Amino acid sequence: MNNEHLMTSLLLPPMSQEVHRNKRKTFAIISHPDAGKTTLTEKFLLFGGAIQTAGAVKNNKISKTAASDFMEIEKQRGISVATSVMSFEYQEQLINLLDTPGHKDFAEDTYRTLTAVDSVVLVIDCVKGVEPQTKALMEVCRMRDTPVIIFINKMDLEGRDPFELLDELEETLNIRVRPLSWPIGIGSTFKGVYNLFAKGLNLFKANKTQIADELIKVKDINDPVIQQQVGDELANELRSDIELVEGVYDEFNREEYAAGKLAPVFFGSALNSFGVNELLDAFVQMAPRPKGRPADVRFVEPNEPKFTGFIFKIHANIDPRHRDRIAFLRICSGVFHKNKFYHHVRLKKEFKYNNPYTFMARDKNVIDEAFPGDVIGLYDTGNFKIGDTLTEGEELQFKGIPSFSPELFREVINKDPMKTKQLEKGLAQLTEEGVAQLFTKQPGSIKIIGTVGELQFEVIQYRLKNEYGASCEFRGLPYHMACWITTDNPAQLKDFLRIKANDVAIDKDGNYVYLAPSSWMLKSAQESYPDLDFHKTSEFKTDV
Ligand code: G4P
Repeated sequence: MNNEHLMTSLLLPPMSQEVHRNKRKTFAIISHPDAGKTTLTEKFLLFGGAIQTAGAVKNNKISKTAASDFMEIEKQRGISVATSVMSFEYQEQLINLLDTPGHKDFAEDTYRTLTAVDSVVLVIDCVKGVEPQTKALMEVCRMRDTPVIIFINKMDLEGRDPFELLDELEETLNIRVRPLSWPIGIGSTFKGVYNLFAKGLNLFKANKTQIADELIKVKDINDPVIQQQVGDELANELRSDIELVEGVYDEFNREEYAAGKLAPVFFGSALNSFGVNELLDAFVQMAPRPKGRPADVRFVEPNEPKFTGFIFKIHANIDPRHRDRIAFLRICSGVFHKNKFYHHVRLKKEFKYNNPYTFMARDKNVIDEAFPGDVIGLYDTGNFKIGDTLTEGEELQFKGIPSFSPELFREVINKDPMKTKQLEKGLAQLTEEGVAQLFTKQPGSIKIIGTVGELQFEVIQYRLKNEYGASCEFRGLPYHMACWITTDNPAQLKDFLRIKANDVAIDKDGNYVYLAPSSWMLKSAQESYPDLDFHKTSEFKTDV
């Protein structure tokens, strides 16, 4: 189906809202940088018919070498808006693939995008196994029990023993795993995989641009076809591996996957287009449909007739000639219509959108309507901040878009006191866009910026100057992490705030945050104030 047809079919009304919703699967591919996320994304799009040539996504990737040149990165980010959401049809399902920036400095962007998906595919490099960013991303998935499918990539390289990799996944990611395919050989001896899900043999053929998977059906693991195809030695090895797999791991249970407790595992090589179809087929069969979302006053079900949605990402155009921003809205329930007034809950105002758009493949298209699970781009002139909710009038605010503890903290020094107002306005707006977090410390209303990467400081400085005419410098602060404090013991909190006044600040929503100078200081604070709870995020009760 070409894009035009796909668009038309999405716009035509004969399908009920329920049918539209049931057709959709909204997910993200996540990985530690270099594990193969971009390559796998590209292969999904290629096989989904959304792009015609490999390389289209890759060219939009923020290049690793551009780390010190943020203008270059912003340029690339500008391009990457086009790939923020990539929709394509596969086996009569409408797949919404939300792109997440691979660059570590944009990790918070990725965390927020994870609030808008219903499941994820996690890519692991078979040579490196679990890496730091894998853990951080999985922690975010575990907060809302997002279902995870794991793809162990680069099986054409001399990787680690698959059993050892699976053990590491379970131990470090706090999730149970269940292999649904199994590699035959590895690296130079890699012959393919035995597919436990579809019962068949998928032989490895390296092919960078076309679908390489071709399933040879087998009766079971003792089928002589296996020897004929891979030889006696590897066939015997495979049999004993599968025996072990069946003995060690429980049967795959879809409910447990859907509940985010059990991750099915597939093996392959994204670069060689191998195991990708197998993964995509399993994904369309098992990945959840658009799910409901908790709001402050109640839980919102996706099949409710009235429209609701929330903003999870704002992309600003840093070109001063085009000051527009694009706010990304995830639709949670009902149907979103172009040109209809919706209630902006925080501002208590009604707004309508003349040209909301969606991305079919690489084309930006203005849409007339969108359904639960869809993500649309809205042109914004400064009315949105991350987490904002739109409804048909109900006073309801979606939850679950927390702030995460930054890793770098710097005090903002105003270099032009005549422009104090501009500086404050600029800082507030950039914070609302999610560029960085702003904390205020007393006495003196000291402004502290927290980020996950160096790059954001450059971005802030540049944008303050260009968009608001304000100048600032940053002074490094020796903080280790920000911990949001909750307690049922006000007396203990009061005492803590007095004793630690130097290291306590207020976040954008007025919450108390302990800026811990070191993990040792944090531990000691936890011991001295046992009734205080310290959390790594502003919303979930994730203890540190
Ligand atoms: P990322 O988005 O997770 O950061 O990873 P990306 O897809 O960019 O892949 C990182 C590197 O790993 C790339 O090589 C890519 O070609 C390679 N790669 C991906 N899948 C496989 C695979 O199955 N087998 C092998 N052997 N390599 C794989 P690069 O040299 O960094 O980039 P490029 O010059 O190939 O673009």
